Amino acid sequence: MRNSLVFYLNGRRTVVQDADPSMLLIEYLRTHKLLTGTKLGCGEGGCGACTVTVSNFLLEEGASTQHRGINACLAPLCSIDGCHVTTVEGIGTQAKPHPVQDRISKCHGSQCGFCTPGIVMALYSKLQSN
Ligand code: FES
Repeated sequence: MRNSLVFYLNGRRTVVQDADPSMLLIEYLRTHKLLTGTKLGCGEGGCGACTVTVSNFLLEEGASTQHRGINACLAPLCSIDGCHVTTVEGIGTQAKPHPVQDRISKCHGSQCGFCTPGIVMALYSKLQSN
């Protein structure tokens, strides 16, 4: 029994002591870590604007790694213990965007742009999982 969550966030080890079991991942990312690239749209799993990548080991499958795009507006913060969370801030920068970001930008692949980070992370998650 322990009273802390341990996970990686954009490559950095993160420890949360005495996490509120009712806190959602999106609230933690936006309010506590100021990672506001993850957007809150519908808040009920419908729009995908809040998509982040969650990676974890599958020990029972030969220690392979699983990457999934999840809705941060639905995921409890406590559910990511032992995982690696990647947000849109973790895959590229303005000076050096990820190829998915670069292609969306060059091909005019967004409208108002609010949900574009979620689209980027859904594509990134799919590419990571091959
Ligand atoms: Fe719409 Fe999460 S905010 S799916």
